Amino acid sequence: MICINAHYLKLKASYLFSDIAKRVAAFQTTHPETTVIKLGIGDVTRALPPAVVNAFHAAVDEMAADATFRGYGPEQGYPFLREAISRIDFQARGADISAEEIFVSDGAKCDTGNIQEIFSTDTRIAIPDPVYPVYLDTNVMAGRTGAYTGGRYAGIVYLESTAANGFIPELPTDPADLIYLCFPNNPTGATIDRDRLKKWVDFAREQRAIILFDAAYEAFIRDDSLPRSIYEIPGAREVAIEFRSLSKTAGFTGTRCAYTVVPKSLMAFDGDGTAHPVWNLWSRRQSTKFNGVSYPVQRAAAAAYTPEGQAQVRALADDYLANAAVIRREMTALGYACTGGENSPYIWIDGKKDSWGFFDELLTRAGVVCTPGAGFGACGEGYIRISAFNSMANVTAAMQRIREALSA
Ligand code: MLT
Repeated sequence: MICINAHYLKLKASYLFSDIAKRVAAFQTTHPETTVIKLGIGDVTRALPPAVVNAFHAAVDEMAADATFRGYGPEQGYPFLREAISRIDFQARGADISAEEIFVSDGAKCDTGNIQEIFSTDTRIAIPDPVYPVYLDTNVMAGRTGAYTGGRYAGIVYLESTAANGFIPELPTDPADLIYLCFPNNPTGATIDRDRLKKWVDFAREQRAIILFDAAYEAFIRDDSLPRSIYEIPGAREVAIEFRSLSKTAGFTGTRCAYTVVPKSLMAFDGDGTAHPVWNLWSRRQSTKFNGVSYPVQRAAAAAYTPEGQAQVRALADDYLANAAVIRREMTALGYACTGGENSPYIWIDGKKDSWGFFDELLTRAGVVCTPGAGFGACGEGYIRISAFNSMANVTAAMQRIREALSA
């Protein structure tokens, strides 16, 4: 008899964004006359930057001729991309990360979901609440939690991010071996400064823990005093893995390219306390289970690191930040407390009511899709998240509709 992985039965029936997509599709069936404006899932709407498109075309042409065709590439990514990433994203900011420590992949979602499998099943996990659901669900699937009751899984150390702590969790009092952090934060849009990030790095060093630092939204940071990488903090190379993505940065949600940084000095321990380089484990995992990102996509990604590409990518993020400023200003004017929307494409709004109810109200009365905060965890109840990923015209229209619906 074939048995299932029973840990899957502990999961909620569907993934948050699939659930929202179903609700929106059902609404559209009954209201075909409404043009719904989507400010829910953080999916980019602007075209790929011209430098990226040109490199993409050129690489496809290379694939079209026997003399320049490429088959399997290195699982960890082509050196031309890994070198550009290490030079521009890290060394230029004083973070000591080499090309060899970069693992190119097809998404930060996959990497943040897959990384947990190289750690033991009894690893004690600390996860923010609210949180990007992938961190939690993948640990549920791996059997690191008990049952789901009262909005929480047994066995997880929840790091509460609330208005009281400025949406930056305190260090846990319970022991934790693997700590998930995300800044600029999804979903709250909160950012962390160097001093507070250093506290986490120092804590991880004391505990011999590892921080999984999701920096998928660093391209939206405009305040130069904020760290863009955890490796800007002294001592982080021994205790942190960082995830980055070109999805929101360079418009790659449909094109797929991201990377994970595993420093060679990062160690984890076996049952005898012997240290093992995590780099070796992740390299072994990727070469066994992953065949790399396609050559044209890596060429397209590398173009985002040329001077021309860098300027275009920054302009793209600036456009979304301009949308974020409009959303934040309008929702504040309507009397809602907002976090994020500055140095972040997400605006976290205290709706002062049940968050799925607020989601339904905005969908049915304004034809605008947001994300209910409760979908990100118990601490998200009462909040909604509005994403800035759309055109300025749609964001302005959405805000006008929301203003009319909420003041009616
Ligand atoms: C989000 O809306 O939270 C993100 O788009 C999800 C993702 O990047 O997978």
